[in-house]
Amino acid sequence: MKLFIETFGCQVNEYDSERIQYFLEREGYQETKIIEESDIIILNTCAVRENATNKLYGRIGNLKKLKVKKPGLVVCIGGCTAQSLKEKLINDFPIVDIVFGTHNISELPELIKKKYSGNKRICSVPDEGFDYDLDKTKRTSRFTASIPITIGCNNFCSYCIVPYVRGKEISIEPGKIIDNVRGLVEKGVIEITLLGQNVNSYGQDLNGPIDFASLIGEVADIPGLMRLKFMTSHPKDFSAKIIDTIKKRENIAKHIHLPLQSGSNKILEAMNRKYSREDYLKTVDLIRKEIPGSSVTTDIIVGFPGESREDFQETLNIIKKIRFNRAFTFIYSPRIGTVASRLKDNLNLEKKKEFFSELLETQNKISGEINRGFIGKKFKVMVERKSTKKAAFLRGRMGNNTLVNFNGPDSLYGKIITVKIIGAKNFYLLGEIAK
Ligand code: 5AD
Ligand code: SF4
Repeated sequence: MKLFIETFGCQVNEYDSERIQYFLEREGYQETKIIEESDIIILNTCAVRENATNKLYGRIGNLKKLKVKKPGLVVCIGGCTAQSLKEKLINDFPIVDIVFGTHNISELPELIKKKYSGNKRICSVPDEGFDYDLDKTKRTSRFTASIPITIGCNNFCSYCIVPYVRGKEISIEPGKIIDNVRGLVEKGVIEITLLGQNVNSYGQDLNGPIDFASLIGEVADIPGLMRLKFMTSHPKDFSAKIIDTIKKRENIAKHIHLPLQSGSNKILEAMNRKYSREDYLKTVDLIRKEIPGSSVTTDIIVGFPGESREDFQETLNIIKKIRFNRAFTFIYSPRIGTVASRLKDNLNLEKKKEFFSELLETQNKISGEINRGFIGKKFKVMVERKSTKKAAFLRGRMGNNTLVNFNGPDSLYGKIITVKIIGAKNFYLLGEIAK
């Protein structure tokens, strides 16, 4: 029996798909990349913005033909949109057989068995639960691995659906994380990414004196681990102690993804972000002072309800002042159940798109300038995989996470090598192996 999984959205979903694969391979299913030959299709969905949901609807629509050809095909929808919409997916889409949530991935084999024996369509989406076991994951990459350290989120940023679909924040015991990393490193993994919606608040729900800074210190000290990355940080919890730990460990990536969301204090307050633009600027100053060569990237939302031209101007100003290596920019999208979705929104879509383009243009220019500054210099690059830009190229990342494409043999996969930068685009660099 063949299994096809498509993952939408963030790295947490990518990780969850590796868990889905683990649980189903244990039952004898085999993964395929060819959807037409699959017996089970899993769509692991994202709900963070409306376009993710629309993309899912499109995908379900496209599956109709295949289902007609293969009536025995079992279509399962999981992830954040499933958690949010529950039975609605069963009611609206006759081709959907199983809907499961974010808290019961381990139950999926049983749901599939039920479907095969009873032929009924099933919706099983519990409101809470915790079934994460780090050992029960199908590792799909030889040299890199992600590990969730917290599940869920307690922050309730007013625009965000995540706390509703992923539940309250639960930290995974430090001993389990350390053991898992040790095991992976023994198997040849050299780069680990620790995941969480707000990794900096790690440990607040655990008994005992553990926090994020001490966790990354302990993980980084595991012999053989060449590079440790983490995301996402939250400005309100990003402490001087964390900065100090990063600074003292050569193998912790000098990259902080620190979502700003807006440069206007009025909007930050309405977003319930719990920091001001001044707090944010201080944190970035400290990072840059203490960790030379570090990169800072961010997320920005434009068009939040009540955002005026002045508010947007403050975002543009702070972006020009900080000069992020890269910014991921989004137009605000109202999400079911969130506080912001009940706010009055006076700004029309045209205006929002205008803000968005202006922001993009400003940031692209900055990213390009920063990247051109790397030309002629040499950096240690971890070779991750073949480039997506050109088949003959390898792709790697510098210690500050900047992407580099360069020519080289496949034998360099999973190694850290020195690369000289010879060209720059807005989002990646071109290099050559240093002599
Ligand atoms: N609309 C637009 N962007 C959003 N994000 C989260 N929720 C929304 C929303 N409702 C963005 C934030 C977050 C990133 C992962 O997605 O910038 O940091
Ligand atoms: Fe959403 Fe805010 Fe939690 Fe991030 S910190 S997942 S933006 S609620």
